[in-house]
Amino acid sequence: MENNCNTESNVKNCHRAVVTGASSGIGAATVRTLAADGWQVVALARREEKLRALADEVNAEQGSDVVTYAVADITDEASTQAAVDQVLAAGEVKALVNCAGAAFGKDPVATANLDDWRGMYELNVIGTLRITQKLLPALKRTEGTVLVISSTAGIEPYEGGAGYCASKFAERVMARVLRLEQVGEPVRIVDISPGMVQTEEFSLKRFGGDADRAASVYAGVPNPLKAEDIAECVRWALAQPDTVDIDSIVVRPRAEGSYTKVFRTA
Ligand SMILES: NC(=O)c1ccc[n+]([C@@H]2O[C@H](COP(=O)([O-])OP(=O)(O)OC[C@H]3O[C@@H](n4cnc5c(N)ncnc54)[C@H](OP(=O)(O)O)[C@@H]3O)[C@@H](O)[C@H]2O)c1
Repeated sequence: MENNCNTESNVKNCHRAVVTGASSGIGAATVRTLAADGWQVVALARREEKLRALADEVNAEQGSDVVTYAVADITDEASTQAAVDQVLAAGEVKALVNCAGAAFGKDPVATANLDDWRGMYELNVIGTLRITQKLLPALKRTEGTVLVISSTAGIEPYEGGAGYCASKFAERVMARVLRLEQVGEPVRIVDISPGMVQTEEFSLKRFGGDADRAASVYAGVPNPLKAEDIAECVRWALAQPDTVDIDSIVVRPRAEGSYTKVFRTA
């Protein structure tokens, strides 16, 4: 795969991606998958030790330094700007994979915690908007892609999920409207909406570290999606010709018809 990320000509052939939320789950799997597919990848998240370990692992496997990392909190303006400056100082960017995100709590609207809602809005909506705005001009130089990992929670709301669902509806709308606004411009906007993906940390964080409650989300479900399944969707969407925009992918485990219609063996 060509990688003209440090020259002024043929930057269309740059294959360098920034993956947010890269320290765990879907983001980390996406870093591994894109690197194996020939991409240079900048892994971005807050936990440096996790990013360093991931970069070391993938670089050893690939036999060259294809993964670098940027430590940043996308809810913080100065931290995000510093990371973007660091990324662009090292070369052009062809793809932004917005994976950083979280659910906090599952309380009904009547009693929901305002700080949980605020946290989800700040991260899933404003954080995604912030880094997307900052990298958009660079992505247009390479005829690149803004990719958003939203959720089926942004398509069908469920009880106890109003705060998370509202933030994911907002994230999907942002991607949809950006797509409309950028028609005619040299950039693609892709939305991937996963259903149930069993990752190590997502439900644990949602339920404040309650491991039993987190495990109950996946209990008895034969083959929930894995982070690698979503990473493969990302790889495939990015591998299409620049003029082919995979507008939207909705991907669920076979056992899940909707959030409230899940087959369980027990
Ligand atoms: N798991 C599912 O069932 C599922 C289904 C549909 C959609 N999704 C979406 O997929 C995305 C990834 O989910 P996941 O399951 O992989 O969750 P995860 O393992 O908890 O990963 C979340 C990532 O976001 C990063 N992050 C959190 N706050 C951040 C901040 N302020 N700045 C920068 N990075 C931050 C975390 O790293 P640090 O803590 O190191 O910053 C972590 O790498 C999320 O947007 C989620 O909503 C998940």
